[in-house]
Amino acid sequence: MSEGKPYSQACENNKQVILEKIATVFTAPGTLLEIGTGTGQHAVHFARNLPHLQWQPSDHPSNFQLCMPWLKEAGLPNISNPLPLDVSVSDWQLPPINGVFSANTAHIMSWPEVRAMFRGVGAILEAGEAFCLYGPFNYGGQFTSASNQQFNAHLQQRDPEMGIRDMADLKQLASNNGMALENDFAMPANNRLTVWRKD
Ligand SMILES: C[S@@+](CC[C@H](N)C(=O)[O-])C[C@H]1O[C@@H](n2cnc3c(N)ncnc32)[C@H](O)[C@@H]1O
Repeated sequence: MSEGKPYSQACENNKQVILEKIATVFTAPGTLLEIGTGTGQHAVHFARNLPHLQWQPSDHPSNFQLCMPWLKEAGLPNISNPLPLDVSVSDWQLPPINGVFSANTAHIMSWPEVRAMFRGVGAILEAGEAFCLYGPFNYGGQFTSASNQQFNAHLQQRDPEMGIRDMADLKQLASNNGMALENDFAMPANNRLTVWRKD
């Protein structure tokens, strides 16, 4: 743990395995929007290892500056200043974006916010560009593990609007917004790295 910086052990555990997957997706130079950046640990690790990308962190206006200590310490030229972005606003004020990454957000956002995220991502991506969404997901209404089921119960106790989303519902949202599931990688700890491609 580093003094004075927000810290997520989960980010330390998953950042390398996520990097190995997204490196195969975001191969072309361009600007990558991260939604729900959180601590900034992912932003720093990915920007450092994917120097062909300009990493654009963002988070809800109440949280978007949380990542500043990690960003400042790293001092990387290919990380932009974080932007306040609440996915539920209708008009996302962003520079041109060539791809989107988001981790552990779909189960924290309410369902209307998840819908808004897919709508916004579908609107900013051009044909052929990708959206990588990492986290736990359900299939056919079933949890993939007892630990995910317990995690979901914990989330719903915290806020009934939160919860692990079902892939069938996400596929429908993607389709409504001109995207389709291209890959769904199994990841450690019963997580998935899903890749959605704009038609
Ligand atoms: C569990 S944290 C994940 C943070 C980081 N991506 C990670 O993997 O550690 C969920 C994040 O979603 C963000 N979030 C929640 N609602 C949001 C919204 N409506 N718009 C944008 N971000 C939102 C939170 O501020 C928080 O940073």
